[in-house]
Amino acid sequence: MLSVENIDLHYGAAQALKNVSLTAEVGKVTCLMGRNGVGKTSTLRAIVGQHGVSSGKILWNGEDVSRLAPHARAKRGIAIVPQGREIFPLLSVKENLETGYACVDRKDRNVPDTIFELFPVLKSMLGRRGGDLSGGQQQQLAIARALVTRPKLLVLDEPTEGIQPSIIKDIGRAIEWLRDQGTMAIVLVEQYFEFARDLADQFAVMDRGEVVMAGARADLNEEEVRRHLTV
Ligand SMILES: Nc1ncnc2c1ncn2[C@@H]1O[C@H](COP(=O)(O)OP(=O)(O)O)[C@@H](O)[C@H]1O
Ligand SMILES: [Mg+2]
Repeated sequence: MLSVENIDLHYGAAQALKNVSLTAEVGKVTCLMGRNGVGKTSTLRAIVGQHGVSSGKILWNGEDVSRLAPHARAKRGIAIVPQGREIFPLLSVKENLETGYACVDRKDRNVPDTIFELFPVLKSMLGRRGGDLSGGQQQQLAIARALVTRPKLLVLDEPTEGIQPSIIKDIGRAIEWLRDQGTMAIVLVEQYFEFARDLADQFAVMDRGEVVMAGARADLNEEEVRRHLTV
């Protein structure tokens, strides 16, 4: 289980996160929602170790990982699908997937078949350069690259951003399937309300660096959430 406890995060003198708390459980999806610039990506950076916290703790299965380097967290099963996908445009699809090998044991250095069952298009494009894929295909590749590391905590930063509706559906189905495997906890950052609502077991809504609403899906008051998502 992931437990983010009262974290603050600064960029220089500017405070981006104030007292943010959040949990995620294996077999469940926690959706983190909020407008642009409220601190969603910063929260994920803090979880995976791309940016240090100024105070507070991040517990992963009871261990405080908040001072560990990103690769040490990756070794513990924490993986990110970054905003904007950040695949390597000049590497082939296969090579992009293999970049995930760095943080897994030698015996696990292969691409699990389930990845191609989730995203069949990738199998037919293994030799293509990442940069030649459509935006939606690149998003599938970014998710697949994270899955190669056999994550136990998967965080996804706006996977539907700029993606066509048919591929959004595929991505939603993939997230559901991963959740139902019961082997990983998922934190999903989303601004697209319907997508988040349909997948969320738990949710948190941020505004100006703080969590302003949080709870189980049953407690989610649609109108109140939407108020926080519209400008
Ligand atoms: N690398 C950075 N350096 C300085 N400020 C940043 C940096 N990244 C984000 N910020 C600022 O931190 C705040 C939160 O940003 P971010 O976490 O990216 O929000 P969101 O993902 O919700 O859009 C914003 O005010 C943003 O301008
Ligand atoms: Mg963001």
